[in-house]
Amino acid sequence: METVNSLVIVGAQWGDEGKGKVIDFLSAKADLVARFQGGDNAGHTVVYGANIFKLHHVPSGILNPKTLCLLGNGMVINPLVLVREMDELEKRGIDTSNLRISAKAHLIMTYHQALDEANELMLADKKIGTTGRGIGPAYADKVLRRGIRAGALADPALFSERLTEVLPLQNRILKDIFGHPGFDLAELLALYRPALERLGPLVTDTGRMIAEQMAAGKKVLFEGAQGALLDIDHGTYPFVTSSSTVAAAAASGTGLGPANVNRVLGVLKAYTTRVGEGPFPTEDLSEAGDQLRERGNEFGTTTGRPRRCGWFDAVVARYAARINGLTGLAVTKLDVLSGMEVINLAVGYRCRGKDIDYFPEGIQDLSHCEPQYESFPGWDEDLSRARSYEDLPEAAQNFLKALEDTVGVRIDLISVGPDRSQTIICKGSQIENWSDARQE
Ligand code: IMP
Repeated sequence: METVNSLVIVGAQWGDEGKGKVIDFLSAKADLVARFQGGDNAGHTVVYGANIFKLHHVPSGILNPKTLCLLGNGMVINPLVLVREMDELEKRGIDTSNLRISAKAHLIMTYHQALDEANELMLADKKIGTTGRGIGPAYADKVLRRGIRAGALADPALFSERLTEVLPLQNRILKDIFGHPGFDLAELLALYRPALERLGPLVTDTGRMIAEQMAAGKKVLFEGAQGALLDIDHGTYPFVTSSSTVAAAAASGTGLGPANVNRVLGVLKAYTTRVGEGPFPTEDLSEAGDQLRERGNEFGTTTGRPRRCGWFDAVVARYAARINGLTGLAVTKLDVLSGMEVINLAVGYRCRGKDIDYFPEGIQDLSHCEPQYESFPGWDEDLSRARSYEDLPEAAQNFLKALEDTVGVRIDLISVGPDRSQTIICKGSQIENWSDARQE
């Protein structure tokens, strides 16, 4: 079998698919884990024994002391939050000395957060439902070419120069449009000084680091955040995040070419959740949706908001497979379905009087899509101790087989609980050579 040395892991729904656990599990064998988009809007929960880690910027690979962890150029980084996250990890005995930051990543500043909140307030009932972390305004400034790049963290004179240049305009927007008091330059410089001291030494050319590792035949994981349906181009615009969340962004977001990122694992829950506003065809507002939320503990890692819950949507999954070029699936939280009498799986939509099996191009149509379900008998067995496909009850195997067939991509990994050990690697999967180390 071909040895897979570079693997992109992306969310194939609306985020929160359990990527953190999958990445933490696979990073046991990874020499390097790189994030390539997004910022601290991401919230990866990783459970290690009795410890629960909630990570926002830092790649989930940080829990493995040998793994290099990079924040790539496609990211937006809040230096104040990153320092807090590193302090928290260090306090709990996790070494963060393997973390590096791309000089080309952009900084999320306090005024970006203020703008994010003010924008949402102004949109009122048309709001996006953002995480309020300043992600959109930071990416907007990057594109408008008035952002501050992470390279400035290593050069206090440059940081001060850039902030002096950009702050007056930010303050004008905040004051004149949103009635916000704005920010004082001297206060901001003082606020950021400790972060510059702490993060400056970590800033480097991360693209070159990855290229060197790949050339040496090392194993590299690319950690996606959010999910396919939150992609700025391909997601349910405007109810999306501000970055490209699909696998191709792993190349541009770290400084590689597409041939370097041709193995893509799409992570999907065995059902669907979404936070924030926007259409969600398989949302279940009845008791079944509440059951999924309670059993799956579906509350946001970053905002604590209750997640909207519903059934697995194969139309979404097929679309995610296309826009990401998925070469394998990781199905998470299968254990949460135990005890459901009937399990539904959407195989198509009825949209404006027509049956369709593809994801509509615009959200105007999506809002008119009724899911067409295939129903499967549930199972009562507790799956949390299953360690191989054969350990799963027949009803669960039948559901997975139907899911795999209708999506058209093979299942590589199944997660049956939050712990690393609660993971099944399917025989012959593309990640077989990534997986044995942590199945304690
Ligand atoms: P933003 O990324 O904070 O601008 O939020 C834009 C949309 O993406 C909102 O619907 C958020 O709830 C959603 N979002 C952003 N990050 C995540 C995530 O990590 N998981 C799930 N949803 C997210």
